[in-house]
This record gives sequence, structure tokens and C-alpha cells, in this order.
Amino acid sequence: MRLDKFLASTGRLTRSQAAKAARAGEISVCGEIVRAPDRHIDPEVDEIAWRGELLTYRRFTYVLLNKPDGYVSATEDGRDPTVLELLPDELQRQALFPCGRLDKHTLGLMLLTNNGPLAHRLLAPKSHVTKTYAFTLRDPLDPEEAVRLEKGVWLEDGAGERYMTKPCTITLEAGCTAGTVVLTEGKYHQVKRLFEEAGNKVVTLERTTFAGLTLETIPERGQWRYLTAEEEQALLAHAGLSSLSQKV
Ligand code: URA
Repeated sequence: MRLDKFLASTGRLTRSQAAKAARAGEISVCGEIVRAPDRHIDPEVDEIAWRGELLTYRRFTYVLLNKPDGYVSATEDGRDPTVLELLPDELQRQALFPCGRLDKHTLGLMLLTNNGPLAHRLLAPKSHVTKTYAFTLRDPLDPEEAVRLEKGVWLEDGAGERYMTKPCTITLEAGCTAGTVVLTEGKYHQVKRLFEEAGNKVVTLERTTFAGLTLETIPERGQWRYLTAEEEQALLAHAGLSSLSQKV
């Protein structure tokens, strides 16, 4: 791999800044100053430092975000702010995209990555990734209605066809206007449409888990963090991708 490409992959420098830094003698490879941005290096083996700071190579980046209200799950939007805008510039340069969508007014856990194959696997209909949503409803939901919804209901798929939702788990709080729903699929507006099917309306919606990841470690809206190496491994395993197949 070229040195400048490696430097850009860390998110700390753009490719042109990387080339400038190399020419300025700011980059060392295994302790030796390297001024040629096109020098070939092995990111798995070589120790690369910028201004004396060791840079670690991660082929892909994984970020967990607590999505605030009003942001859209897109990389660009002409009207509304996107979830990408909540991340610092160096992350915005890494071609991250949201792994799955939350509606503009849905809050909570969102995974952003530039690992296309992983996102594809996690979002594939047959992957059955578990997601938990905390909801509040306009009207109390009859527990018997909740049981009916749990078993599956017919919804329109948007192309004139109907499909049966997969079984889900609904837990109602006292008063029956709030609770959680655990889904193993992710159809368009699924939670809202599920409760609409029972003549009700979702008032607030927050995703609290996704593929084994939880919101607890990023409690503030707009807060983000990198996945730990262990979480990354668990996610790859969840998607049936070994870490070996994810290396360069
Ligand atoms: N279901 C919805 O209706 N909206 C979301 O944002 C996520 C799931």
C-alpha cells in the first residue's frame, strides 16, 4: 500500500496533506524518515509515525452515534442536516455512511462505517439483526393487540405487494402508552406502520440496541465514539465475516 494512502486511511490527513507531510520529513517508517509519498509500506507490519506519533491502521472505520432529533440518515441532503455533520472533519473525510436508516425524528443508536460488505450483510433481509426501539404511543395499546402485532401483520411493501412482518417482541410499560419492541428485520417505517396497523400512532421513537451494540455508553444526543476492537470483532462475527477476510 502507498504511504500517502495509508496516512489518509487513518483519517488524520487528506491525501495531499499526507504527501506534504512526507516531503516535509514529518513521516517515519520503522524509525526512518521517508519523504516519498508513493513509498510502498505494509500497514500490518510497518510502524508509521507522523511527527513522532505512531499511527494505527484500521482498514475500516466504525463509529457509534446517538442520533439527535432533526438529522437525516444520509451522507448528503439539500434541506436537513445529516448525521455525518455530527462527526469531526477527519471522520467526514473517510466516506462513512449510516448502516441502515432512522427517520428524521427517530433518536438513538446508529452505526456508521465505510465497510460496505459489512453493512450489506447486516442489512440483508436474511441477516435477522436484532434492533430494539423504545416507543411512546398516542393511545394506550391493548395488551391483546400487542400479542396480535407480535405474531406478524400484513403491511404494504411500497410496490403494491403485501408482506407479513416477522414475529417481534413487544413489552408494554404500565399505562400501555410506552414500551419497547424488538425487531429482527428493518422495513421502511416499520415500527410506525406496525402500530398504525392497530389504529395507534407512534409519538416518540428511539433505537436503543442494534446488532448487539447498545446506547448506554453514548448517553448524550449527538455523542459518538469508535467501536472497540472487541465490538468490531463481534460485529464482523455477527455478520458472518471473519476479520481475516476484512484485511487488505
Ligand atoms: N421504524 C420506524 O418507523 N422508524 C424508524 O426510524 C425506525 C424504525
